[in-house]
Amino acid sequence: MAESGKGKGGSPSRSGVFGKPADPLLEAFTQSISFDRALYKYDIAGSVAHVEMLNQVGLIKRSEKDAIVTGLTEILNEIEDGSFRFRPECEDIHMNIEHALMEKIGEPAGKLHTARSRNDQIALDERLWVRDEHDECVRLLSMLQISLLDLAAPHAADVMPGYTHLQRAQPVTCGHYLLAYVEMLERDKSRFRDARKRANVLPLGACALAGTSLPIDRSIVAKLLKFDGVTRNSMDTTADRDYLLDFAYCMSVASLHLSRLAEDLILYATAEFGILEIDDAFSTGSSIMPQKRNPDVLELVRGKAGRSVGCLNQLMMLVKGLPLTYNRDFQEDKEVLFDATKHFKGCLQIMEVFMRNVRFRVDKMKDTCEAGFMDATSLAEYLVGRGIPFRQAHYAAGRLVNLAMRKKVTLSDLEVDDLREVHALLSEEVRAELGAEGVIQGYKSAGSSNPQMVSAEIQRWRQTLKNDGAFS
Ligand code: ARG
Repeated sequence: MAESGKGKGGSPSRSGVFGKPADPLLEAFTQSISFDRALYKYDIAGSVAHVEMLNQVGLIKRSEKDAIVTGLTEILNEIEDGSFRFRPECEDIHMNIEHALMEKIGEPAGKLHTARSRNDQIALDERLWVRDEHDECVRLLSMLQISLLDLAAPHAADVMPGYTHLQRAQPVTCGHYLLAYVEMLERDKSRFRDARKRANVLPLGACALAGTSLPIDRSIVAKLLKFDGVTRNSMDTTADRDYLLDFAYCMSVASLHLSRLAEDLILYATAEFGILEIDDAFSTGSSIMPQKRNPDVLELVRGKAGRSVGCLNQLMMLVKGLPLTYNRDFQEDKEVLFDATKHFKGCLQIMEVFMRNVRFRVDKMKDTCEAGFMDATSLAEYLVGRGIPFRQAHYAAGRLVNLAMRKKVTLSDLEVDDLREVHALLSEEVRAELGAEGVIQGYKSAGSSNPQMVSAEIQRWRQTLKNDGAFS
C-alpha cells in the first residue's frame, strides 16, 4: 500500500509523514471538490498531455502511459455520464482523479504525478478553462452584436432623442444609438482576445515552485495543449493569477456596458419616455398591480453586473499581500469566478434574444425630437457656416430659443422677421436645417449620426462580423 503512494484511507496527498488521519472537520473545511469538479475536463486533458511527454522523454514506459490514458478516458466518461463517485476526503479534482485512476489501473497511476505538483496543475487547469471561457464570451458578444445590428438596420434613418445629463440634447438616429453599443461590445471582444493571449502560456513544469531535476520537456506539453509557449519563471508561474484577474476585468467592463444598455432601455420603456415597447414574452407582471408590465430582465442584467465587478474585487483582494509562491488562498478564486462567469454569459444570452423582442416607437421618438429645441446647435452651426464666430452664433441661437419658448413655438416656426432681428444672416433658408430631420441630414463629421453614414456603418459591421466568423 505504502509503495503505491496510497496512505491508509483519507487524502492521497497525506504522505507518510503524518502519524494520524486528517480530522473530518479539516477535510470538510479544506475540500474544493464540491466546486473544482467543474475543471475535470481540463484536468484530464492536462494529465493526458503530461504522460505523453513523460513517455516521450523516457520517464515512463509506453505501456504505463497507455494504461494511464485508458484509465483517464474511462474516468472522463464516468464523470460525464454521472456515474463517477467524487470523494470529499480526496480534497480536490486533482486528487479525486488520481485516486480513481489508482483504483482502476493500480501502480502505473503512481507515475502520473511525476514532475508535477498540484500548484502547477491547478494553474494549468485554470488557464485551459479561462481560454475556453474567453472564446465563449467573444462568441456570445458577437451574437449580441448581430442582434443589435438587426435592430439598427430598419432604424438607420429614424430620428431619436439623444441625451446629455439625461436632458434632451440633439437628435440622433436610432441606428446610430444602437451602433454605439456594437462599438462597446467590439472593444469588449478585443479585451477578451488580448487577455486570452496572455493566458495562453503553459504553466505545467513549474512544479511546486522551483521546477524539477527530472528531464521533462515542457514544450511537448505546450504543443499538445495548443499553448503559444511555456512560462519562463517557475516561481512567478505558481504565484500568478493575473490570467484570472484579466478575465474578471474583461467581464466587468462588458458587464458595465450591458448594465448601461439595460438602464437606457428601462428608461425608454417608461411612460415618461415612452419610446420603447418590450414584448409581452419578455415583460414581467406585478403580484398586486394588474396593469404592470415590468422590465425585470433588464433590471437583473443591470444588477448582475455587480457579480462580475465583485468577482474582480474578490480576486484582487485574494492576491494582494500573498507571499510568493503558491498559497492555499488561491482555492478561493474558483467559486466566485465560476458564478460570475455563469451569470455574465446568461446576461449575454438573454440580451441577444431580448433585443429581438423590443420595438422602438418611431413616431414617439420623432415627436420627442421636435420639442425641446434640440435643433438649436444646428442653428448656431448654420451661422458659423456663414462666417460668424461660434460664440456669437451660440448666443444668437440661445436668444432665438428664448424667444420661441416665450412664443410657445418651435425654432422652425419662428417668423423670418424674428430670425433676422436676432441675426442679420438668418433667413428662410435656415429652416431646411432645423427640425429633427433637417438636423440629422446636416451631420457631416466622421462618426456622426448622419443616416447615410449610419447605413454605411451597418454594412461595414456586417462585413466585419462576417469576417470574424460570427454569422454562420
Ligand atoms: N484546490 C487547490 C487550489 O485550488 C489545488 C492546489 C492545491 N495545492 C496544494 N499545494 N495544496 O488551489
